[in-house]
Amino acid sequence: MDLSIFKCISCDNEYNIQEIRYRCDCGELLEVLHDLETAIPNPQSWKESLDVNMAEIAFSRYKPLLFPSLPDIALITLSEGDTPLYDVTHSFPQFNSLKFKHEGMNPTLSFKDRGMVSGVSWANHLGCENVICASTGDTSAAMAAYAGAAPNMKGIVLLPQGKISPEQLAQPIAFGALTVGIETDFDGCMKLVQKLTEKHNIYLLNSMNSVRIEGQKAIGIETLHQLNWKVPDWFVIPVGNAGNISALGKGLRELFELGIIDKLPRLAGVQTEGASPMYKSFQNGYSELVPEKAQPTKASAIQIGDPVSYKKAMKELKHFNGVVEAVSETELMDWKAQIDRLGISICPNSAVAVAGAMKLHDNGIIKENEDVVVILTAHGSKFSNTAVEYHQNKTNKFANQTLTIPPNLEKLESVLSL
Ligand code: F0G
Repeated sequence: MDLSIFKCISCDNEYNIQEIRYRCDCGELLEVLHDLETAIPNPQSWKESLDVNMAEIAFSRYKPLLFPSLPDIALITLSEGDTPLYDVTHSFPQFNSLKFKHEGMNPTLSFKDRGMVSGVSWANHLGCENVICASTGDTSAAMAAYAGAAPNMKGIVLLPQGKISPEQLAQPIAFGALTVGIETDFDGCMKLVQKLTEKHNIYLLNSMNSVRIEGQKAIGIETLHQLNWKVPDWFVIPVGNAGNISALGKGLRELFELGIIDKLPRLAGVQTEGASPMYKSFQNGYSELVPEKAQPTKASAIQIGDPVSYKKAMKELKHFNGVVEAVSETELMDWKAQIDRLGISICPNSAVAVAGAMKLHDNGIIKENEDVVVILTAHGSKFSNTAVEYHQNKTNKFANQTLTIPPNLEKLESVLSL
């Protein structure tokens, strides 16, 4: 028996979960709703059971809340999840507490694995042999890996030509996906993939596929579990296509509705100044989002001017009394350098969230006595050129330039000031 349905976020139309469908007939996005009363009849005992199920992978542990309709036999996993929650309050005493949920510590080094365990497993359940996505790099890496792990699935990825890092490009190629560089930006790739999947029988695995959002809910749920269900005042998260902030909100809302948490945090989404349609919409009191041409940024994974999930994201931002902030290239790169130095390797997109948290604190929106969790979305190793370029340029505030000397002891002693 199916415990889930698709429901339109606008007109309330409902569809069978077994259908391959990404939008309502009215054109709006869908969300997946579960019969949680049946899936989790006793939320308090379910909550207690989670502590004894730590040997299970995260997706299976939280599955009654994530996607109870997925048959276990269809599961495709690479042991994603159970990522670290670093407490860095010692370095940032201006916060009551500051913690980093490092989603870069997943198998393909980004949070996208959380959504692919549900998306690719569901594709496997539906018998889809071809899966596709448009991507700024991380979705394609995750989709290609999980398609590779599935028994009979071919991944196809559309990438904005020349706009992703070499490490991100290496991943889908190495995982065996058919990789196509398109001479456009992410928004152009996204339009193309939607047209293609309307016409052909290829399963779309961008986050506009609401099945993926269900897997991504695990990030917030797992964080709360690690916090022993003590709700922080804020979650701060970078925003591109706006799927992840939608997932975070939905998961937290459901935890609250089940009585597993007793209050709601606030949400803060952060963008770069050159790619900030959500920020501008927030500033105009959430008026209609005006798509823009996203400007190049070091945070290339969120160089997106027309976020597909903005309506879902705005709904969550309103529900969680949220805010949206924007940061400059200097702010994000300087914060990347400072966090990397703590031994926590982060990508420029994650640094956008860190810089946003600092800015919101400086502007008095995040208060001194508040508890803050920042979601780090990918690992720094996906963007090594960005780090090397930053550190080689001595005009950057936190540059740590490498030195080159001949093989000579005196020269070595001299540069080491010995
Ligand atoms: N951080 C990283 C590292 C990302 O790769 C993305 C999105 C985001 C943040 C933003 O998440 O789109 O759900 O708001 N990357 C997508 C991709 C677009 O194709 O890999 P979002």
